[in-house]
Amino acid sequence: MNDFLRRILFLPEQGSTLASRVDGIHYFIIITTFIVGAGIGLTGFVFLVRYRRRQAHALTPQIEAPAWLEAIYISVPLSFFLLWGALGYQDYVWSRTPPEGALDVYVTGKQWMWKFAHPDGPGEVNVLHVPAGRPVRLLITSRDVIHSFYVPEFRLKMDALPGRYTETWFEAVRPGRYQVLCAEYCGLDHSHMRAEVVALAPAEFEAWRAQRKGAEVASGAGVSEPLVEQGRAVATRAGCFQCHTVDGTPHIGPTWRGLYLREEPLASGGTIRADVAYLTESMMDPQAKLVAGFQPVMPSFQGRLSAAEVASLVEFIQSLRPERPVPPAAQEP
Ligand code: CUA
Repeated sequence: MNDFLRRILFLPEQGSTLASRVDGIHYFIIITTFIVGAGIGLTGFVFLVRYRRRQAHALTPQIEAPAWLEAIYISVPLSFFLLWGALGYQDYVWSRTPPEGALDVYVTGKQWMWKFAHPDGPGEVNVLHVPAGRPVRLLITSRDVIHSFYVPEFRLKMDALPGRYTETWFEAVRPGRYQVLCAEYCGLDHSHMRAEVVALAPAEFEAWRAQRKGAEVASGAGVSEPLVEQGRAVATRAGCFQCHTVDGTPHIGPTWRGLYLREEPLASGGTIRADVAYLTESMMDPQAKLVAGFQPVMPSFQGRLSAAEVASLVEFIQSLRPERPVPPAAQEP
């Protein structure tokens, strides 16, 4: 079969661990609806022929369906809807929960390109190198308008929103090149806002990373500073340390040590989990969800920090793990 026909008849190649799940439920819905649709069409056709009007002015008798028949034709489609919903929800939760130990990559969309930053240094434009067979977590934002990061072969699509982070993840199942498209109309060159994910075998990925750093040294650009270190520098420059400590003691604001994913009480009642979205939001609009016990004195950093600076700050805060209590010695039985 030629390539063009394959493209219009079938779904794209399954490039990620998510793809087979998405396609599974997709085909399941298509096949069940086709069977039900064909059954209705066929029954209609049989009735059309069998009960056609044979003589003029004939009256058909009034028939009432028994209750059990009505119960069947309500409950069968309903159970299919519920089953699709349950299966879809299961896959949705799976697709939204990055596995432990995933590799972080920061993605910034801007008119009209995709920029990628690896936490330990190298930045890339319109090409993202990742290792195959290893989960990669994407933290996505935009510098201007709404874009959408779309990789058809991965069945992966996530909006890029200015001023906040969205999160998704994927695992490429084999080395290869996969096209990235922008799936949200974003202006003149929307259709040209393309990039490529290059999945490499793990050893090749490490080689790429080492070679990339070597090239930076040779060009005199210097090794890109890891994002965590950039974040520390940004925090110093922006004056964050005047109110936030990194040693675990609260000051004018909450301490950053162990803040990431901590459950914090809110002044307005309730609690909030300090995830990436919350950390970003508090930099842009600090008073929106104020942690209980602190004064609303923090200014907004909207427009004062670039997307790259926010990414480095978030990475820095994430790196400040809580001091873990020493686990108690195993009890003798
Ligand atoms: Cu970016 Cu469309």
